Amino acid sequence: MIIRASLLDAPTPDTLRFVEDGILIVDHTGTITTSGPASELLTEALLTEDEVFDAPKDARLLCLPGLIDLHTHLPQYPVVARCEEALLPWLKRHIFPAELDFQGPGQRSLIEAFFDELLANGTTTAVLYAAVWEDSTALAFEIAAEKGIRAVIGKMMMDEGSYGEAHPAEARRKSLDETRRLAEQWHGANNGLLDYTVSPRFAVTCSMELMKEAAAIAADTGCLIQTHLSENTAEIAAVRERFPDRSSYTDVYREAGLLGPRSIFGHAIHLSDRELDLLASSGSRVAHCPTANLFLNSGLCPLHSLRQAGIPVGLGSDVAAGPELNLWQVMRSAIETQAVRRMQDGSIPVLNPADALYLATMGGATALGKDHLIGSLDPGKEADLLLLDLNRVLPLGGRFSPPSDANAIATALVYRGGPHATLATFTRGRRNSRR
Ligand code: GUN
Ligand code: ZN
Repeated sequence: MIIRASLLDAPTPDTLRFVEDGILIVDHTGTITTSGPASELLTEALLTEDEVFDAPKDARLLCLPGLIDLHTHLPQYPVVARCEEALLPWLKRHIFPAELDFQGPGQRSLIEAFFDELLANGTTTAVLYAAVWEDSTALAFEIAAEKGIRAVIGKMMMDEGSYGEAHPAEARRKSLDETRRLAEQWHGANNGLLDYTVSPRFAVTCSMELMKEAAAIAADTGCLIQTHLSENTAEIAAVRERFPDRSSYTDVYREAGLLGPRSIFGHAIHLSDRELDLLASSGSRVAHCPTANLFLNSGLCPLHSLRQAGIPVGLGSDVAAGPELNLWQVMRSAIETQAVRRMQDGSIPVLNPADALYLATMGGATALGKDHLIGSLDPGKEADLLLLDLNRVLPLGGRFSPPSDANAIATALVYRGGPHATLATFTRGRRNSRR
């Protein structure tokens, strides 16, 4: 497969690579073998091969690494933008009822629509929470395989004060048994495009026993771990009350054995220096979810402190606290969050669009431990790609504002990108099917 397009990627936080007229060659295994300027790579031999993509005539083709959504909730998509002041009442009123309904084969159409929407937004890798139900979690894996998307999925785990279980011990046993079964069946499935993530919701609805056994399942099966950490002050107070012997929220997860390089913590807004140390020294990862943090009035994440501590960070749309799956909007929100913090404290550095693009691609890949596989257009990587029409991002179809340089293009994408510009997505060199 050969793609002729402008090529744009951000392999490090401060490197933006751009080839205006580029060629990208993908071999039959779905690996990028060559990427670079057409002037150097375009030979007679190449021209005779099939062009992969039949672009609309007036399109200005741009090829990027597929975007990586490090934290979002599949069953919550129907209830985005439900206004509520704060996390805990929002969960009770809108989220638990939606997740309660997410069971049975009837969920197929919602799951299919969700993956279609992810792909339409240019996301080729997603780390997802399902609900507590084993059947709909398995169905999500099956449909992810049908769509050819790269996905990390976990059944939501809770045993206390959540959907109203009458018997916490019973809920715990069931949750652990189903999680182990799903992890054994799905971790590494579809030739490694699918992974399992053990997913205790958060320390407000999980007992220490559940969290410890969840960590043990992850250790036994080699799968990932995800949970929520320090999103909201009332949540933090609830955790303090539930675990008075622990020195902090992060220390609860340390005690449970949930910290580590295979663990991704959503939010991580209100952390002490000691907690940052705990995360960093354990190799733990963070999913920064700025749209969600603003929607639920949770706070302004000190992104720079997390990164300075050496914690790998990527971006999450965190639907339904985040109102959309559009990672360009999440990048914009990440930038604006740091801009507001900088207005209050001039020592906070600017987050620029190139770095935001890094967070949504290589940053996410690194946080996932997949930076050797995806996240950039380097030869040797698997071809997870987003092909878009830059003219659909620029004002007035690009007729009056030809793109000037790489930074201007990255900025236009961050402020104006979305499904309207997506032409196609590819995972490991195969075009994703989308209705
Ligand atoms: N904390 C615990 N569960 C959730 C959830 O579903 N969404 C968000 N944003 N935070 C949570
Ligand atoms: Zn979340």
